[in-house]
Amino acid sequence: MCGIIGYVGTRDVVPVLIGGLRKLEYRGYDSAGVAVVNGNGVEVVRAEGKLANLEAKLADKPLHGTFGMGHTRWATHGKPNENNAHPHRDCTGTVVVIHNGIIENFLPLKHQLQKTGHEFKTETDTEVVAHLIEEKMKSGMKFEPAVKKTLKELEGHYALVMINANEPGTIIAAKQGPPLVVGLGEGENIIASDVAPLLAYTRNIIYLEDGEYIIANDKKVDVFTADDKPVHREPKKILWDAVMAEKEGYRHYMLKEIHEQSRAVRDTFNGRMFEESAEIFFNDLQFTPKEWAKIRKIHIVACGTSWHAGLVGKFLLEEASRLPVEVDYGSEYRYRNPIVDDGTLLIGVTQSGETADTIAGMQEAKAKGAKLVTICNVIGAAATRMSEGVIYTNAGPEIGVASTKAFTTQLTAFYLLSLYIKQLRGLDKDDIRYAMHELSVIPHKIETLLKKQEKHIEQLAHKYQRAQDFLFLGRGVHYPIALEGALKLKEISYIHAEGYPAGEMKHGPIALIDENLPVVAIATHTPVYDKVVSNLQEVKARDGKLIVICDEGDEEMKKFADDVIEIPWTVEPLQPILSVIPTQLLAYYIALRRGADVDQPRNLAKSVTVE
Ligand code: G6P
Repeated sequence: MCGIIGYVGTRDVVPVLIGGLRKLEYRGYDSAGVAVVNGNGVEVVRAEGKLANLEAKLADKPLHGTFGMGHTRWATHGKPNENNAHPHRDCTGTVVVIHNGIIENFLPLKHQLQKTGHEFKTETDTEVVAHLIEEKMKSGMKFEPAVKKTLKELEGHYALVMINANEPGTIIAAKQGPPLVVGLGEGENIIASDVAPLLAYTRNIIYLEDGEYIIANDKKVDVFTADDKPVHREPKKILWDAVMAEKEGYRHYMLKEIHEQSRAVRDTFNGRMFEESAEIFFNDLQFTPKEWAKIRKIHIVACGTSWHAGLVGKFLLEEASRLPVEVDYGSEYRYRNPIVDDGTLLIGVTQSGETADTIAGMQEAKAKGAKLVTICNVIGAAATRMSEGVIYTNAGPEIGVASTKAFTTQLTAFYLLSLYIKQLRGLDKDDIRYAMHELSVIPHKIETLLKKQEKHIEQLAHKYQRAQDFLFLGRGVHYPIALEGALKLKEISYIHAEGYPAGEMKHGPIALIDENLPVVAIATHTPVYDKVVSNLQEVKARDGKLIVICDEGDEEMKKFADDVIEIPWTVEPLQPILSVIPTQLLAYYIALRRGADVDQPRNLAKSVTVE
């Protein structure tokens, strides 16, 4: 949803900006641009498409300076061409702006400015910001007050970085909605959409809140509220290593992140689960049994892959709590006037913690009195700041647009939460201890699965890469995995794929089955195993091509399916963590074979901060 970066200090700024944009490219890659202020005033270079195009342009026309800004775009207003690429400027060319979000009232503002003679060069909503600042400076105002006044006129969502080439060394940035973090360095300061670009320079990070703005130079950063009151906020220390956000020899981030799942799942339960005493402890989430007893129902709100984690969560939490659990998309929940009261626990599931629809859903529930808990991967993200309790997934930075390790760690978080609820309810400690032990051996099982099956799945990808459609089937806890497997495949390979509950196939999708349709089914040993097998017979009877994800050593399945992918056995509530991995690898290798851009699939963005 657009990545933005601003820098002031002593380093050569272009490598800082480009290095930062590379880490932010997951947020959008329709176009990219930089602005650098130096002895020649402000110089702007922009290019359509990926960052590499901008880099090529900069190689031809190098820019130097120690003060500037950069942007990578996910288009909302105006085509993804060079003309609409950020940064944008006012009529004089000295006020320069980059933006993530949507200025909702840009049209009336634009018409008003046009009447007073401003000429607009782009179709973007962002350009109005530069002209609004210019308009105020025309009547004698300095840059700072002009920006402050402009911010008060804007409606919508924005993270903005603004400079005036006539006042080099001062950056003003403002946040209303999309994220903005400030890295405090020694003789340098840097502002960006997330922490990844800052880690090479500093670990001291300030997270801005909605409505706040900063005025920064190389020596200091002053933070203000929307009504211009100074804010004193201690920086947070970020422990992530800059190297964690690199590819480390893997061809793609997605493949690296698939392989990181064993470590990521372990980091999600480490320090929270104590097998000996059968106790779960969350640092940032605590219920007393009395508080818990007040909870009458649970709502889970999420989008995309996180929504699929929520569907698995429903199985686990209903079983643990015996309370009704509803799962909804953020975009639906926020407008359906959900029935919420102070006996409702709302769990927001979001890797980034900044998905606009999820956050709006959480706000809706909060306003109606619900208690808010977030399962999130990004420390200090918006969703965590509005919640009373947080379970961090500790997956580390996820860069590939298609989510993998964030998903399996969300499943781990739900599993831990279900054990925590059992603990609050005083359920049998031996059962809880056994459940903990099964989780403690999952990382090893993930490693075994990857070691034994990756090559085989690569071959299957070769065999099935030309299919036009895929059907994914599962029942119970594996139904959400069928949905997730289909989503992964369509996201990165652009093959149409549908996920369905295996038992429901006969009510429609069965009409699609013929010898050209690969059907990926999850059929591990759960209480509905025999039912799934019957559903798969229906596929076979119609010549569908069956690829079955089954338990290791399921000899019957080997005779019956066209291909099998064997996964280690575990208890039913943990099976989705293993069964999803073959679907991730299958999507990855099919996309690779088809020459698709695995880490940055077309039209997508990793975090969607607009409605
Ligand atoms: C986008 C991403 C998905 C992600 C979804 C929700 O659509 O492309 O991979 O699952 O947003 O993101 P969140 O950060 O809220 O989990």
